[in-house]
Amino acid sequence: MSKKARIAVLVSGGGTNLQALINAQNKGVINSGKIELVISNNSNAFALQRAEKASIDTACVLKKDCTDQNDFENKIIKKLEEYKIDLIVLAGFMSILSQSFTSKYANRIINVHPSLIPSFCGKGFYGLKVHQAALEKGVKVTGATVHFVNEIPDGGEIIMQKAVNIKEDDTPQTLQKRVMRLAEWKILPAAVEQVCNKMIS
Ligand code: GAR
Repeated sequence: MSKKARIAVLVSGGGTNLQALINAQNKGVINSGKIELVISNNSNAFALQRAEKASIDTACVLKKDCTDQNDFENKIIKKLEEYKIDLIVLAGFMSILSQSFTSKYANRIINVHPSLIPSFCGKGFYGLKVHQAALEKGVKVTGATVHFVNEIPDGGEIIMQKAVNIKEDDTPQTLQKRVMRLAEWKILPAAVEQVCNKMIS
């Protein structure tokens, strides 16, 4: 393997977690890996503009241009192979990957999820829905988790977690922002550095 692990970040939306990774790379917090490619399944994702601004190559793979899930994943794999990617980071990527994809990249895909797994996770729990569910349940503490991705949605080995207190007047939106700022944007770069460091050493 080269001196730095080659990273691809998969995104679907705003890309604040991608931005946290770019900032961490610029500050040297991520030093064992380099973001070589950003892939989006949404051509309007603001994350793509963040990548372009940081001079990172981008690619769009859209479900509407694919015959089925297999074709969609094969097109992503083609890009990953073209860029000789070592580590895939799912940063707000809103599409579940099949077992054939996750097993091909075993221990080489990580995801950030906006709750303390095993709470409020799995199929159907994404984005604001996660925070809505946490508030409905009345939990007093939530947080974020970075984990390896396997065939079970949000079911792979946990790498890092950070807790965030819930406030009485929280809405899903205020909670989402606080979980991002206090947990996601911190543990995702830290976990990426940890995994890349292990990969290259
Ligand atoms: C983040 O909160 C991320 O944890 C969540 O979507 C948001 C994406 O924001 N991901 C999931 O819910 C995956 N199950 P971003 O595009 O600004 O990084």
